[in-house]
Amino acid sequence: MSATANWPHGLTRVPYWVYQDQDMFRTEQARVFEGPVWNFLCLESEIAEPGDWRATMVGSMPVVVARDADRTIAAFENRCAHRGALICLDDQGRGAKDFHCVYHAWRYDLRGNLKSVAFRNGVNGKGGMDAGFRLEDHRPRQLRTTTVCGLVFGTLSDGTPDIESYIGAEVLPRMERVIGGRQLEIIGRFTQVLPNNWKMYAENVRDSYHASLLHLYFATFKINRLSQGGGLIVSPDGANSVSSTIAPDVAVDSAYAGIRSVDDGFHLEDECMLDVVDEHPDRIRQHIVTVFPNFVVQKTQNAMALRFFTPDGVDKTNLEWIYFGYADDTPEMRTRRLRHLNLGGPAGYVSMEDGCVGGFVERGIAATPYRESLLEMGGSGTASQDTRATEAAVRGFWGVWRRIVGV
Ligand code: FES
Ligand SMILES: [Fe+2]
Repeated sequence: MSATANWPHGLTRVPYWVYQDQDMFRTEQARVFEGPVWNFLCLESEIAEPGDWRATMVGSMPVVVARDADRTIAAFENRCAHRGALICLDDQGRGAKDFHCVYHAWRYDLRGNLKSVAFRNGVNGKGGMDAGFRLEDHRPRQLRTTTVCGLVFGTLSDGTPDIESYIGAEVLPRMERVIGGRQLEIIGRFTQVLPNNWKMYAENVRDSYHASLLHLYFATFKINRLSQGGGLIVSPDGANSVSSTIAPDVAVDSAYAGIRSVDDGFHLEDECMLDVVDEHPDRIRQHIVTVFPNFVVQKTQNAMALRFFTPDGVDKTNLEWIYFGYADDTPEMRTRRLRHLNLGGPAGYVSMEDGCVGGFVERGIAATPYRESLLEMGGSGTASQDTRATEAAVRGFWGVWRRIVGV
């Protein structure tokens, strides 16, 4: 049976086998992560000087991103051209002149070009490589890189459009609102393991419908309710999105009456978590910007973070959080950001639930690969809406994913 035959209902249904299928896992590595997409690699500030580098992942492919001597940014597969060992074993480094593979000491420059082979001419006149061996014939795969808003992205495809077109005119200004034109300073980072397929998290970050229902903290303390102003922008191709929540303008609303998550009797003894300073005239208190396939820029209250997530098997995902502030933050604002960052991360008052709900789905669908999830909130399309009671961005993700994967 063809994959398409198992997917009969357009974008309002997602068959569960797409989260479970081992062949699909390999297909999407080749067609999505190594296909016509921009993969987030690092912040420019992390590799500010020549010889600075970071190790990261493009899907399940290990990658090194480095600042070369001419200050350009290069990225290459973290895989020795000899027998495949990781070239860089650490997460990051500074001031490197070159990279040596630990296994047999093959040496690479900062762009991933092979520069020398140990004992190439043998030892004591014996052994060594054949006279026809050429260094330039052997190298790990090299990525094309680009930058936007102080972020570095990489792609293996010649068909990936420029990054501005890729993010799109609707979404890019909202990303710039949070990180454009400011010097960013990393103030913390985590990696957490999610017990679910990576696409469940790609759905979760686009799912503005769940935020005030799953996350009791949001609704109870009126940080994020769908009854507040806001909306959802979806890029015309469906790939990228922005969810916005505007500061509440009424003290009491009835939209949540009878919904399990909200008990208006609760309050915080210490309300410092609710002490928000509006840094933008639009009074948007939460902005979640997603970029296909696996990248998020977010601002909630005064906390800011980048998230990216990569598959580590069909039902395991590594989620990285990078917390940041602006370099010119006042000490008071920095303290406020750090305090509000307790909403995020693996044990965050809010994000804790996103860390486990994908596992609840994995367990629920374990025996039903050919049943389907239902995505009809807000209709069946992927257009932007002036409400967050919609799954339009989730449908948008699946539209792009299906086009790229070919199902
Ligand atoms: S595997 Fe890298 S030098 Fe042999
Ligand atoms: Fe969530």
